[in-house]
Amino acid sequence: MFDRPDAGERAVLVHLDIYADQHSEDPDEFRELVASAGVETVDLVTGSRSQPSSRFFVGTGKLDEIRDAVAAAEADVVLFNHSLSPSQERNLEASLKCRVLDRTGVILDIFAQRARTHEGKLQVELAQLEHMSTRLVRGWTHLVRQKGGIGQRGPGETQLETDRRLLRGRIKAINKRLDKVRSQRAQGRRARQRADIPTVSLVGYTNAGKSTLFNRMTESHVYAADQLFATLDPTVRRLALPDVGAVVLADTVGFIRHLPHKLVEAFRATLEETVQATLLLHVIDNSDPQRDEHTEQVELVLSEIGAHEVPVLQVCNKIDQQEGREARVERNAEGVPVRVWLSAMTGEGIDLLENAIAELLSGELVHQYVRLAPAQGQLRARFYAAGAVLDERPLESGDLALEVRMQLRDWCQLLSHAGLQEDAVVRLADADWLAAAVNA
Ligand code: GTP
Repeated sequence: MFDRPDAGERAVLVHLDIYADQHSEDPDEFRELVASAGVETVDLVTGSRSQPSSRFFVGTGKLDEIRDAVAAAEADVVLFNHSLSPSQERNLEASLKCRVLDRTGVILDIFAQRARTHEGKLQVELAQLEHMSTRLVRGWTHLVRQKGGIGQRGPGETQLETDRRLLRGRIKAINKRLDKVRSQRAQGRRARQRADIPTVSLVGYTNAGKSTLFNRMTESHVYAADQLFATLDPTVRRLALPDVGAVVLADTVGFIRHLPHKLVEAFRATLEETVQATLLLHVIDNSDPQRDEHTEQVELVLSEIGAHEVPVLQVCNKIDQQEGREARVERNAEGVPVRVWLSAMTGEGIDLLENAIAELLSGELVHQYVRLAPAQGQLRARFYAAGAVLDERPLESGDLALEVRMQLRDWCQLLSHAGLQEDAVVRLADADWLAAAVNA
């Protein structure tokens, strides 16, 4: 016989389809969450019920099935893809003779491992203590020597405190420290706002590649004088972007589907930063089959926390995993960048992202490719007079293709002076511009 390595916690997952529940979770996603928590899934027990049983959540037949699965796989813990009441958790632990954790417990464990800021750590500890305080009398854990593991990790206390009085005292102390940290943070934020430094926050589903992008962007724009930010909070950095100057870039914790409301509260610190941002970069794993669903979920959470009014630039990441995908910028009908395709890992397209950020932050800057007919020589002269022309190419048709960049205000003025409606200037898509370049 040999000892298993410490890291290898083994879990039996339980997922039931509950007919009465319209917000059913996805077992595959739960598997991913569990993997994120560093736990190995050794078996998945599934089933269906019209509604949960009040005693064990599952029926007694299913309970036997879970017990057999735990024994056969020598599992350390049973993880439910559902919310369990404290008494259900207790009854299950007593009956299965094994630790049991519900979905909230699993998510909290992930957050505990990811919390990086002082405030984030306090928030997680608080949420864990509050989650625990209703579950103090456990059916199983008091019988075994506690050694830590999923749901028992945390930046602060790692052992369950079995005394409610101590727990209450701890919650109170943390709340006090949090108040202090929050007021310090608010002061820092006010200082940044006074200095008019725009904040760009990275948001997105867990595993989308936010941290990779954050590191990629910060490594190329190290702000040497910025020791203060660097030491205070590793998820906030100041960069100097071309054309914009100083920008604060902030990373946030990944979104998770159906994030319980009390956890949204627990992460107010990270999310507060999100609401305050000048611009949000919504990072999307473009190679993920569930991309659209995840994108929607993030948008939903953003609107729940009141961040839906902050401008968003979507970043479709991981194009290196998709054959034929190239880095590019997509614009809306007004020519404003709305989406950038790139790979945070290879760095392809990072320059496009930085340009798009610069464009969005430098106010209403228009960067367009326009097609002008030979009769529009006067308009062409005006673009030149405004110093807006970056490039000019003749097209096969005899028209001209102009690459122009200028303030939106000047752009509108120029068109109206020339007596033209905006749609009289034919825009070229990036691809047409490339074709024009080839033909030139
Ligand atoms: P959370 O911390 O869970 O919110 O995740 P995150 O969004 O910060 O993602 P992270 O940067 O940790 O990346 C998740 C995984 O995707 C890692 O294994 C990265 O190496 C990988 N990854 C990130 N960007 C790319 C990319 O452009 N291409 C490829 N192929 N993989 C990438």
